[in-house]
Amino acid sequence: MHLLETRNLTVRFGGVTAIDNLSLTVGEGEIRGLIGPNGAGKTTFFNAVSGRYPSSGEIRVRDHVVSGLKPNEIVAQGLARTFQHVTLFKSFSVLKNVMAGCHLRSGYSFWGALLGTPRTRQNEADNERRAREILDFVGLGGLADETAANLPHGLQRAVGIAVALASEPQMLMLDEPCAGMNTAETRSMSDLIRRIRGNGTSIILIEHDMKVIMGICDQITVLNFGTKIAEGSPEEILRNTAVHKAYLGSAADAS
Ligand SMILES: Nc1ncnc2c1ncn2[C@@H]1O[C@H](COP(=O)(O)OP(=O)(O)OP(=O)(O)O)[C@@H](O)[C@H]1O
Ligand SMILES: [Mg+2]
Repeated sequence: MHLLETRNLTVRFGGVTAIDNLSLTVGEGEIRGLIGPNGAGKTTFFNAVSGRYPSSGEIRVRDHVVSGLKPNEIVAQGLARTFQHVTLFKSFSVLKNVMAGCHLRSGYSFWGALLGTPRTRQNEADNERRAREILDFVGLGGLADETAANLPHGLQRAVGIAVALASEPQMLMLDEPCAGMNTAETRSMSDLIRRIRGNGTSIILIEHDMKVIMGICDQITVLNFGTKIAEGSPEEILRNTAVHKAYLGSAADAS
């Protein structure tokens, strides 16, 4: 049984078909790369699977059809994601941001928790402990009380991952986690992604840094104009002429 499966997934924006009849499967414990030129439909794929954009075709999680579910219901199915652009509560502490992620799992009211009603107080203590564990895991334990807005961009991305992990996902979808990072930051992000998989969470990784993709992915799916043009191991993708053409074509368009 596949953890995630799409069958003929299609997403249209007016005249643009951003995802075009895309069928793919991702297994348990896999790190799957999702690559392709700018505008290929990678982020749209995440938006469709995470319940943010309407789509046709079918999305299945562990063979259950989840098409049409709302974003919070998708999280409850074990799928979490991060965003290409950081989406933290900027004026909150790092800890509070991760605790907000815990609420997606526990189902307690986020606002009730902020106001500290008795019903939520025990739950709050549990969430705080859990949030601190997750921050330690992603290497941000020392920054728990820092205001999110004060962190450099790369660390805000890592907080975004901590928030997603707080829902205890079976699958984590990462949208360009290494964008704008230097070599050392990129290396520690790659390590983190491996450690997350080591804890039993599957990953779908959108990333333009090919060294990262080739270094950590088990399998890679390549999109161009919303269509799958190749799929295989890093070695197979490196040798694939259709992939080379897609990237060269987009480079020529950009110049
Ligand atoms: N909300 C939207 N409304 C209209 N068109 C959209 C919307 N989101 C995406 N698109 C279009 O869908 C196509 C795929 O965009 P998408 O953002 O998924 O690409 P991408 O592969 O993530 O690109 P990048 O590598 O630049 O992030 C593009 O043509 C884009 O303009
Ligand atoms: Mg994108």
